[in-house]
Amino acid sequence: MNLKQQASQHFQQQFSTPCDIVCYAPGRVNVIGDHTDYNDGFVLPAAINYGTAIAASKRDDNQVLVYAHDCDQQTSQFSLDDIQFDQDMMWSNYVRGTIAMLQKKFPEVGGATLAVTGNVPQGAGLSSSASFEIAILKTFASLYDLPLDGIQAALLGQQAENQFVGCNCGIMDQLISAMGQESNAMLLDCRALTFEDAPIPAGFSFVIVNSNVKRGLVDSEYNLRREQCEAVAKHFGVKALRDLTLEQLQSEQANLSEVEYRRARHVISENDRTLAALEALKANDIATMSELMMASHLSLKDDFEVTTPEMDALVEIIAEVIGQQGGTRMTGGGFGGCVVALAPSELVEPIKAAISAQYEQRSGLVADVYVCTAEQGAFRA
Ligand code: GLA
Repeated sequence: MNLKQQASQHFQQQFSTPCDIVCYAPGRVNVIGDHTDYNDGFVLPAAINYGTAIAASKRDDNQVLVYAHDCDQQTSQFSLDDIQFDQDMMWSNYVRGTIAMLQKKFPEVGGATLAVTGNVPQGAGLSSSASFEIAILKTFASLYDLPLDGIQAALLGQQAENQFVGCNCGIMDQLISAMGQESNAMLLDCRALTFEDAPIPAGFSFVIVNSNVKRGLVDSEYNLRREQCEAVAKHFGVKALRDLTLEQLQSEQANLSEVEYRRARHVISENDRTLAALEALKANDIATMSELMMASHLSLKDDFEVTTPEMDALVEIIAEVIGQQGGTRMTGGGFGGCVVALAPSELVEPIKAAISAQYEQRSGLVADVYVCTAEQGAFRA
């Protein structure tokens, strides 16, 4: 049974009546371009074949009743007239937040009964929360026939995170969950909110490896990185680090702190690598992709300092297997979570074997491996 069928079945069991519709939105993996989105820069993620499904029916009492199968089978209910933050069931704030933002744009939105289930590993950096938000928005847009497009949906999802849930994330995760394209990664311009498909070569898949490092300090360190980037932009009197070249940065090195300099060097060089990666994918140039992904990892490790020794070990283990036949790097926000490899099918098993043979010995942890394909986003026509 696929995820949408499971959601529909949970709805029937929970509410003793069939649902009207089932909607779905994918999680994502970022191929290259991390910590660039909130600097108005470029990212190159893909939507993946793991996501969140919601079975739903309209209701006419202005209430939202939601059953979350994977959050201890909890149920939360609230009124659209007064949407409050829920201290007890944190997961329900994703529903509350997205609907609160949606309501501002479309006051006509009404109530619903929902059953939610998902298979994006939580807390692994594969955007289970963005996939939840985009699935909610797709559900309400479908139930109430709202003229909501994918870019607007992504912005509402991000606003829900920033203003309601209290996470200061950028736009990447919501945008790719909404607008991803099958068999493609996507170059997103996080300032212009425009995108371009980047073909994944035939016979390649994503090998996503969860380091299973317990992610700590994610929010505080993430916010600190943002502040450091914003401080450098302010120093130059520009809106964001997107507006600076490496030459400009170097010319001011003496007037910046050593840490600020390295943080900005990561962002500026990562934007260049991400644009170069689009061209490499279009040209089917895997050797260049391999170099760009490794340079990205090292920049996130040394200049941005968001990797962990366990993630570095995984990248080393995988790089030894794939060489120039594919690429590997950490992916997402960092401080634990996943690394990704873009790998030809014949190397998937050798990668898994190398991880089993070496990772536990080096880190004391056991990794989870997900072999993924690039899929369509929830709002992509
Ligand atoms: C998290 C955030 C994204 C992005 C990445 C780092 O996933 O949600 O907006 O900033 O970290 O690239």
